[in-house]
Amino acid sequence: MSDPFAARYLGRLVLGGGVAAVKCRTCGEPAVINMRQHKLALCADHYVAWFQGQTERFIGKYGMFTSEERVLVAVSGGKDSLALWDVLLTLGYQADGLYIGLGIDGGVQYSAESLEMAQRFAAGRAGAELHVVDIAGEYGLGVPEAAQLTIRGRTKPCAVCGMVKRHVMNRVARDGGYAVLATGHNLDDEAAVLFGNTLHWQVGYLARQAPVLQESAGGLVRKVKPFCRFYERETAAYTLLQGIDYIYVECPFADGATSIHHKLVLNGLEAEAPGTKLQFYLSFLQARRAGAFAGMEGSAPEMLACRTCGQPTTAGDQCAFCRLWETVRVRRHS
Ligand code: AMP
Ligand code: FES
Ligand code: ZN
Ligand code: ZN
Repeated sequence: MSDPFAARYLGRLVLGGGVAAVKCRTCGEPAVINMRQHKLALCADHYVAWFQGQTERFIGKYGMFTSEERVLVAVSGGKDSLALWDVLLTLGYQADGLYIGLGIDGGVQYSAESLEMAQRFAAGRAGAELHVVDIAGEYGLGVPEAAQLTIRGRTKPCAVCGMVKRHVMNRVARDGGYAVLATGHNLDDEAAVLFGNTLHWQVGYLARQAPVLQESAGGLVRKVKPFCRFYERETAAYTLLQGIDYIYVECPFADGATSIHHKLVLNGLEAEAPGTKLQFYLSFLQARRAGAFAGMEGSAPEMLACRTCGQPTTAGDQCAFCRLWETVRVRRHS
């Protein structure tokens, strides 16, 4: 299924609009994308090269990983994570994929479609190994139904879903001997989280928001976001130009999420003054590096090994994931 909204990411030139006013800064041919925030317009070939080069630069700048380390890329079937996997393979990193089937349908077969996108990508790239964890297959119920049984419809399943994803990502990365887990979060995602945390002055969260979260002694793997400085439009343009098929519909539960409102506000600011989003995020990282949030992380809670699965947890002797499925088992049959 191709994205009917693709035009919002690229200039009209590539889509046949025939406006040849903007030229590639490198070669002078018609540009396909004009990034006002960088004062940079590029043709398709030079854009793809620029995007890959920038990713390599961010990986090095933030010390995310080296080419000797094995990387597990969490792929949702969306444009950001598939673009990330594509770039890492192209740059020669040892990158495998992980897709987590959450059992979300929402009338659009969301999980089935996104799995297909991830599998199609993997099949088209020699040596790209995709791990698939199907939650309903392993535990008998998908995330929405499991959440319904435990939180009883009080809220959306998103919090449960986030916990399940974090648990599975860490487990597969650890069991597979990966040095690092990479996600496709982009600048729009990071700026929206930053905006939310700032609105509520959640200094603990602010202190921990970073492109790299180091591994912990208790067994949490290192987590990195190589695309944290790319605008969503930039990752989308890369995916389109590389001809990668992705699922363009959002998770059906995302509708009305606070982060979407925050993204709209930031987009409004960006339209007025291109570069605002990037400046907001980079200035925050700079302030963080300078110690603005030093000592505000809160004391690290004690990390124990879950008695059921052995994964690290701060929630006592059993992790939230194992507790979820125990509750589900009890309530399903009561
Ligand atoms: P989201 O929280 O949906 O904005 O996704 C953020 C990142 O989490 C994506 O870019 C992926 O790297 C990862 N991710 C989200 N959903 C999945 C999934 N079902 N399986 C694997 N990784 C995922
Ligand atoms: Fe998990 Fe939407 S992706 S609730
Ligand atoms: Zn060019
Ligand atoms: Zn557990």
